[in-house]
Amino acid sequence: MCDTYKKLLTCYDSLRERTAFKPQLGLVLGTGLGNFADTIRIVDRVSYHDIAGFPTSTVEGHKGQFVFGYVDAVPVVIMQGRVHYYEGYDITDVVLPIRLMKLMGAQILMVTNASGGICKTFQAGDLMLINDHISSFIPSPLRGTNIDALGTRFPDMTDAYDPKLREIIRTTARKENIPLQEGVYIQLPGPQFETPAEIRMAERLGADAVGMSTACEVIAARHMGMRVCGISCVSNMAAGLTGGPLLHDEVQQNADLAAPRFEKLVWASIVAIARSI
Ligand code: HPA
Repeated sequence: MCDTYKKLLTCYDSLRERTAFKPQLGLVLGTGLGNFADTIRIVDRVSYHDIAGFPTSTVEGHKGQFVFGYVDAVPVVIMQGRVHYYEGYDITDVVLPIRLMKLMGAQILMVTNASGGICKTFQAGDLMLINDHISSFIPSPLRGTNIDALGTRFPDMTDAYDPKLREIIRTTARKENIPLQEGVYIQLPGPQFETPAEIRMAERLGADAVGMSTACEVIAARHMGMRVCGISCVSNMAAGLTGGPLLHDEVQQNADLAAPRFEKLVWASIVAIARSI
């Protein structure tokens, strides 16, 4: 058995000693959505520090715990604070929590993040339904011995973001009167923000928004056959598009401003998705 799989099973056993909760859906909270977990009916919380072998997050503004509970009647596990590649972890560690969520029972994954808007018609504060991603600038989380128990060696990435789930989120946004953009997310390694030249490159490659997470997590989830959907909060326009510098505090502030709309859309979408299955 390869080390990555051994570590995953160690984490799983350790987590199961703390909770028997079986989620239907896993939700990854990005910048600005950190308080969403406080709005659900919480059953259990497990700090990442209490899971043997778990990579622990160092990024500011992230709490670093799994929260188990109910969105309406839907059993969910929430990752409050994700692990980023730029923190120095191996890419397999970055996706370990996603794999854990699947082992716990989650069949659906909803990813959220903050991003820089590349598409010229976007504005800071917009929400964007992710319809595809570009992960070509980061290592694959599937590199190395394939873990056959999780999935196949060469998983398909067509419709990585489930078309039916996307349609449900679109419909939900319309019903809730929440404007929703749509586009392609590119994951770049960070932690530095991009140069204007890199943003022009990303635009030519077909990206509408840029960030430092998510695509690797989605690859791991699709490897395991999870159905995936994703929503990004465009917390700023990307480098070179506004004339000013990019500041992490501003990214955080804009994400916080969009949070009520974002929370409402995520909540209503989870309820609608659960009804559809
Ligand atoms: N670039 C990369 N990651 C980001 C950005 C950005 O402009 N905004 C929020 N996360």
